[in-house]
Formats: sequence, structure tokens, C-alpha cells
Amino acid sequence: MKFSYRLARRFVAGETLKEALPVVKQLNAKGMRVALDLLGEYVGHREIADAARDAYITVVHTIAAEREKNGMDANVSIKLSMMGQKIDEAFCLDNLRHLLDSAKERDVFIRLDMEGSDITESTLALFEEVYPEYPDHVGIVLQAYLKRTEQDVRRMCDLNAPVRICKGAYKEPKSIAYQDMSEIRERFMAYTKLLVLHTPNPGIATHDDRLISATREFVTEKGISNDQFEFQMLYGIRPETQKQLVAQGYHMRVYTPYGTEWVPYFTRRLRERKENVWFVLRNLLRT
Ligand code: FDA
Repeated sequence: MKFSYRLARRFVAGETLKEALPVVKQLNAKGMRVALDLLGEYVGHREIADAARDAYITVVHTIAAEREKNGMDANVSIKLSMMGQKIDEAFCLDNLRHLLDSAKERDVFIRLDMEGSDITESTLALFEEVYPEYPDHVGIVLQAYLKRTEQDVRRMCDLNAPVRICKGAYKEPKSIAYQDMSEIRERFMAYTKLLVLHTPNPGIATHDDRLISATREFVTEKGISNDQFEFQMLYGIRPETQKQLVAQGYHMRVYTPYGTEWVPYFTRRLRERKENVWFVLRNLLRT
């Protein structure tokens, strides 16, 4: 396990918040914003969900204190399944409100990550429940691979809600999700255009050069300023591209996970790209 963690370390900023903070500071020093993510998902016990809520609140307090001290620029990405969504939605909603009260008080933004399709509707419904109460402090994620997302993009445009658009990282059946990458790209770009035009500060979350170039062309053509959207990438993936985009005047937010529950996240990163698997195999062969 220790060896695997050494490999996962490329994608994970540490096992504790204390270890992750210097990473946030380094990214900020390079002109990048950060989304801090405490790893963990699909919790089945109320005590663990409550502990996750409290840990998220600690992250909120820490970001606010660090912002006061040294101007830290970070928000928080959370998973509702970590706060009891699969146990009882009402219980999860209570936890979410509790967290958002703290986020509003400290002026820290919370993004609800999108997880597997078993909880897509529930995640959107919980978001719609809290968004009117916390419009400046909560946002959502949509996944371009899901066939339902066309409607969900319109739903979020109608709400004028802040959305991160990504391709989608879970294994979903073809009855509900596009499997072909060119189709997913096409959808991603169509949704990006709508979100850039109709929602506040959308996050364009991809490492894909074609999508990055198409977004750049679209905003230039429409005269949309760089302050009206941000690119988002994952910690440890294409750091040079992250730097280049910042140098070219774009906002870049780096999704920075930390915590001991890194296995599912690391597995998704490996599944996404064969280069990541090669990276692991190379390291295995070296020892
Ligand atoms: P992908 O990995 O598909 O790569 C596409 C192309 O990009 C490649 O063919 C290549 O051209 C180029 N490329 C990528 N990496 C490269 C490299 N290292 N070197 C050279 N070229 C490279 N998912 C989810 O389901 N729910 C969520 O809430 C989130 N949240 C999230 C936040 C952020 C900030 C990001 C960036 C991503 C997510 N995701 C996510 C994950 C997302 O859905 C998706 O699985 C990954 O981002 C991978 O898809 P990409 O579009 O990044 O490129």
C-alpha cells in the first residue's frame, strides 16, 4: 500500500490538510487558483458522514484563515456521497446546509462534484434545493458523456448556476452515456458554449488540447473576457499546459485532492489514460 501511495502521490497532494497546504501555496505562487478536495466517497455510516462534514468545515475555516494571512486563493470540491447521500437524502441535505452556512459565513465557495449516474438526479435535486439560499457559495458539475446532460445544462442555465463541465470519469452503460470520444467532445463543446454564454464563471475542466483550443476560439469570437470563465485541470496532469495557459492570461484552477482515501480517485486516473498506466508500470519495473 505504501508503494502504491508513492505512485498515487503524483496525483494527490498529501494524506492530510497540513501536507496539502504547501502544495496549494505553490500553485497559488504560479498564478493558479485551487479547488481543494478531501478524498472519500460512497460513505455508508452516519458517523463517518458527519465526520466528513466536519472535516470539510475545517477546510473552509482553514482556507479563510490562510486567505486572511497570505491571500490563499482556493475553494472546496466535495462529494455528497461522502456526506450521507446514499444513506438518506434528508440527512445529507442537513449536512450540506451545515457546511454551506459555514462557507457563506467565511465566504468560501463549495463545488459539488458529480459522481456515478446512480446519484446524478439526487445531486442535482439537492443542489437546486440549496442554490437559492447560497447563490454565491455553491456550484455544480455536469458530465458531457451522459445523455441526460443536454437537459441538465438548460436546467442550470435557467437557474443561472455556476457549472463545471467535464467529460465524466465513471464507467457508465451505453444506454445512458455516450462511449465514443468524438461524440463526447462534440457534446462537451456544445455545452461549454451554452455555459460560457449563459452562466456565471463556468469551469472548463479538461486536459484535452482540442477542447481547450475550441474554447479559446469561441470566447475570442464572442468577445468574452478571460475573467468570465476558468480552465480547470487536475493536480499532476499536464502541469506545463497549466503554466502556459496562465502565462497566456487565462484563469486556471487546479483540482487538488488530498487524504487517505485515494484509491478510487487514483484508479479513475489510471483508467482514463494509458500514459498514466505506463507511469505506474515504469515505476514498478524500476524497483
Ligand atoms: P482525456 O484524459 O480524455 O484526454 C484527452 C486528450 O487530451 C488526449 O487524447 C490528449 O490529446 C490530451 N491529453 C490529456 N492528457 C495529456 C497529457 N498528459 N499529455 C499530452 N496530452 C494529453 N469527472 C467526473 O465524473 N466528475 C467530476 O466532478 C469531475 N471533476 C473534475 C474536475 C476537474 C478540474 C477535471 C480536470 C476533471 C474532472 N473530472 C470529473 C474528470 C473528467 O470527467 C475526465 O475524466 C478527465 O478530466 C479526463 O478527460 P480530459 O477531457 O481531461 O482528457
